[in-house]
Amino acid sequence: MCFLFRERKTTVKYQKPKGTADILPAAAEQWDTVEAKSREVFRRYRYGEIRVPLFESYDLYARSSGDTSDIVTKEMYDFDDKGGRHMALRPEGTAGVVRAYVENKLYGPEYPKPYRVYYMGPMFRYERPQSGRQREFHQIGVEAFGSESPLLDAETIQLGVDLLHNVGVHGLRIAINTLGDPETRTAYHHALVDYFKPHLSELSADSQVRLEKNPLRILDSKDPQDKPLVADAPSILDYLTPAAAAHFQAVKDALDQLHIAYTVDHTMVRGLDYYNHTIFEIMTSSPAFGNKELTVLAGGRYDGLVEQFGGPAVPGVGFGLGVERLMLLVQENEPAPTPAPLNVYIAALSEKAGIQALVLAHAIREAGYTVDMDFLNRKAKGQFKTANRENAQLVITLGDDELANQQASIKQMATGKQIQVPFTTVTGDFQRLYADLVEEGNN
Ligand code: HAM
Repeated sequence: MCFLFRERKTTVKYQKPKGTADILPAAAEQWDTVEAKSREVFRRYRYGEIRVPLFESYDLYARSSGDTSDIVTKEMYDFDDKGGRHMALRPEGTAGVVRAYVENKLYGPEYPKPYRVYYMGPMFRYERPQSGRQREFHQIGVEAFGSESPLLDAETIQLGVDLLHNVGVHGLRIAINTLGDPETRTAYHHALVDYFKPHLSELSADSQVRLEKNPLRILDSKDPQDKPLVADAPSILDYLTPAAAAHFQAVKDALDQLHIAYTVDHTMVRGLDYYNHTIFEIMTSSPAFGNKELTVLAGGRYDGLVEQFGGPAVPGVGFGLGVERLMLLVQENEPAPTPAPLNVYIAALSEKAGIQALVLAHAIREAGYTVDMDFLNRKAKGQFKTANRENAQLVITLGDDELANQQASIKQMATGKQIQVPFTTVTGDFQRLYADLVEEGNN
């Protein structure tokens, strides 16, 4: 290493914001692989990619997530822009996609039904950071619009399972529940109020407010004070209308036929207000999560949201997958990938040779191969050492003789074989040269 770097002490002036992460190249390569494998599954299910803004009006997220949700009460990254508009960084993907669906009239007759889209990207929630929980995190999500069929709910769950299996995550636990239709919700709302009201003073302060505004949220309370009361609360399954019960039964029947094992968790409500009918979570426990069970993928049906956003009465269903959690699982199963070998290293033994190296490097890259050369004025020995460290297949040496003769000395590292070829061969037909040297050398 150059002494300049060894001698000088550095002080970090800026640190990344709490709850964010730098994804460095080796990890980014693993992210790329996971994304590519996910895209492959989406292709089979006929999902197309949608990219929507990372920020939208605060109202859009607030109204869809719900006033009493943690996202809105505690976690929104909101700000007034220079034009005085109240904006927020997206805390989740569904609201933006539903907005885009309505604004672009994707319900029109020219579009397929169901209309299926997927997205990948960062989301922002002001949460207390811990393993698998960040303030900037990433989701891979899907939304399917235009069908009320319980078969689509089952297909969406199957898609989530396929996605996780395809990236090598197994040992999943699937929990499902139903929040029924509006009639179910009204009846259940009354039942919860009747149940909790006599115990008002035993509830946490947050849940006392929830009882007023949205009693269903009490079931999702993380406060230990609420837990004993929540455990004995009435079950929504006892308040389903016949239509809601039939929908849920049809989802369960379809999952059975698909051999997807699940448990029904009647206490599951999910943290967002837009859900109705089927909701689901896919969980797994792992040493990467401190042996705790964490939800990696979660979603459900949200009939009515498109209408709430000013569109027609089009139902929807989807899920979001937490990519950081997924990557912890993936990285636990497989070691970081070893970097691909370098095709060519060009060792330049003079300043003039350096310029020629740059020209040859460009031609070789144009031919589709990886090339590196020296930019630190290393001596010949240092350059050859670098070539070895980078696992170069071919080393081209450029010294005064090579420049005078306009010829490159090329060494095939695996065999030690060395040849001289004119520069014009390197720039004109590197593919042939590489095939002769490396592919022949491999045989
Ligand atoms: P969600 O349950 O809020 O649903 O988030 C989905 C997943 O994102 C979670 O299960 C978790 O894996 C991950 N996640 C959430 N918050 C964090 C965080 N702070 N750090 C790391 N990962 C996190 C939604 O967002 C819905 N939009 C899903 C959906 C789509 N429903 C219908 N369509």
